[in-house]
Amino acid sequence: MRVFVAGATGAIGRQLVPRLVDAGHAVHGMTRSESKTAMLAELGAVPVVADALDPEQVAEAVARARPDVIVHQLTAIGSIDMRHMDRDFALTNRLRTEGTDHLLSAGQAVGVQRFVAQSVAAYGAYERTGGAVKTEEDPLDPTPVRKMRGIHNAIRHLETAVLGAEWTEGIVLRYGVFYGPGTAMSRGADQLEMIRNRKFPLVGDGAGVWSFIHVADAADATVAAVEHGTRGVYNVVDDDPAPVAEWLPAVAETLGAKKPMRVPRFVGRLAAGEAGAVMMTEVRGASNAKAKQELAWRPAHSSWRQGLAA
Ligand SMILES: NC(=O)c1ccc[n+]([C@@H]2O[C@H](COP(=O)([O-])OP(=O)(O)OC[C@H]3O[C@@H](n4cnc5c(N)ncnc54)[C@H](OP(=O)(O)O)[C@@H]3O)[C@@H](O)[C@H]2O)c1
Repeated sequence: MRVFVAGATGAIGRQLVPRLVDAGHAVHGMTRSESKTAMLAELGAVPVVADALDPEQVAEAVARARPDVIVHQLTAIGSIDMRHMDRDFALTNRLRTEGTDHLLSAGQAVGVQRFVAQSVAAYGAYERTGGAVKTEEDPLDPTPVRKMRGIHNAIRHLETAVLGAEWTEGIVLRYGVFYGPGTAMSRGADQLEMIRNRKFPLVGDGAGVWSFIHVADAADATVAAVEHGTRGVYNVVDDDPAPVAEWLPAVAETLGAKKPMRVPRFVGRLAAGEAGAVMMTEVRGASNAKAKQELAWRPAHSSWRQGLAA
């Protein structure tokens, strides 16, 4: 198939492009920067330079590539201050709203068979009541904290637009927390360094449940969705959702760091804002049963315990 990847140079895109190429697909990879075209060519993609927020550039790029499938992996997360999630996600929110709409319009104009888009299973996307591990049938959080409302609205916009596109097979992949090469949880990168330096404390009871996914496994699931996914939502997470009180000390130990400091919830809230406190104490994990069954996919790293150590 001809596959157009928006976000081809990012943490997931760099894993995804070579896998699609290896599977025999003709890949067109989008970037804003001329300077990244050589990297895309090296990964095996035809480089396409366009700004995802410019509808004409997107329409032209997609029309030229004539893809069978579009994959939307656009984000602009960068480094995050948990106290200012709304500010730090402003551009990502635009990519999830305007960016999605531009790609869908461009895809409809050329009649793509599938449209696969990145969404979120982690970081408090699901409701914070009921069971610790959510399936795709469970509701997204109906009452996100104030600083996360914009993020939630953008996610809902993306999912509604993709699943509602009746002219194509609209597929939403809700990824867990990425770790592995190129992510914020890789050797020397922000989050692991914070844990190593005891700057990532265990807040309150640490009951927030996180679902992780190695970025290579996320890419494998995405290839499966590109090839035979059907309209709907899939959680793409590992087999081992775990509360912060469990994974944070375990990751610190893996890094050879001292145990994380413990702080009461109100102190965590002062330092990391309400969004940060919620992530440490209230969020829920996700089940990968549907993706395993319907995409015939298995994460090679079934647990963050071995995956992060590796
Ligand atoms: N589920 C998760 O845990 C999750 C999800 C997403 C990101 N993250 C993490 O967040 C960290 C930072 O990620 P990031 O958001 O900076 O992503 P990234 O991994 O650098 O990827 C962003 C992609 O979006 C493209 N992009 C952004 N704005 C664009 C625009 N206006 N037009 C065209 N392309 C555009 C970028 O292309 P160019 O820069 O080449 O133009 C790039 O390919 C990474 O460590 C990643 O692991 C985690």
